[in-house]
Amino acid sequence: MSKKKLTVIGSGNVGASVAAYASAQELGDIVLLDILEGVPQGKGLDLYEATPVLGVDSRVIGANDYEATSGSDLVIITAGIARKPGMSRDDLLSTNVKIVGEVAEKSSKYSPNAIIIVVSNPLDAMVYTAWKKTGFDPRKIIGMAGILDTARFRTFIAQETGISVEDIQALVLGGHGDTMVPLTRYCFIGGVPVDRFISSERLDQIVQRTRQGGAEIVSLLKTGSAYYAPAASAIQMARSVLLDKKRLLPVAAYLDGEYGQKGVFVGVPAVLGEAGVEKVVEVELTQLEAKAFGESVKAVKDLVKEVDKFL
Ligand code: LAC
Repeated sequence: MSKKKLTVIGSGNVGASVAAYASAQELGDIVLLDILEGVPQGKGLDLYEATPVLGVDSRVIGANDYEATSGSDLVIITAGIARKPGMSRDDLLSTNVKIVGEVAEKSSKYSPNAIIIVVSNPLDAMVYTAWKKTGFDPRKIIGMAGILDTARFRTFIAQETGISVEDIQALVLGGHGDTMVPLTRYCFIGGVPVDRFISSERLDQIVQRTRQGGAEIVSLLKTGSAYYAPAASAIQMARSVLLDKKRLLPVAAYLDGEYGQKGVFVGVPAVLGEAGVEKVVEVELTQLEAKAFGESVKAVKDLVKEVDKFL
């Protein structure tokens, strides 16, 4: 198997963390790209210099020009501004739609066969933006959100029960925002339903904390939003694509009739492999869950209408 090539767009906290995890896990050679001069080169060189110590053959370079990204197998877009306290993810739309649109378009020219993972917010709308600007098959564009949201949920459940995070499985549907739909019916600890361990009142509180998980970090950091858990989540998707693992993960995927929706990217469980989203898995929803999912899709569609004004 030949070595893979990854491009990470944006050398801020999320992008640099993605590059750090990707090189440490030897996912391939990495190009860290940013418009800032020196920063991607400096962080890239620093990461490259870590590889002899880590014992990995991942060549990391920083660049300002897309030429360097040519022929990438995977492009991870983290570019854009992050939230400050008091802002919602949606407040980022008008700035990030231009940034994400431009970087997606440019990357697609140099890497026409790449799979694209979008991390920038407002997530679901930025995945749509990347799709529109690249003209790629929508299965090749995937948004990172559900893994992060469920990772937060799993962390809180582990804290609550004292059981390993590894054994906690969870599922969240819908947009990456206040309308996300954590499905507690599909939460298991080592195969045992979660309600065997936690009361429904307490579980509701944990769901609420999960919903606010991004804002909780923003209010602590004050200068930006989370990056380690978002980067780790993007890497889980990258591994499944690059190693063709066919993992079933909650991601923002294009719906083409699944869940009764068409033409929209939103969080659903999907199988990720070398072709990108290889299958969207439909789960049965109760009336209440279906209603919450419908509302979440509507919120995403409203944002997409805003995006369309800029395209
Ligand atoms: C979060 C932001 C990055 O959930 O969306 O932390």
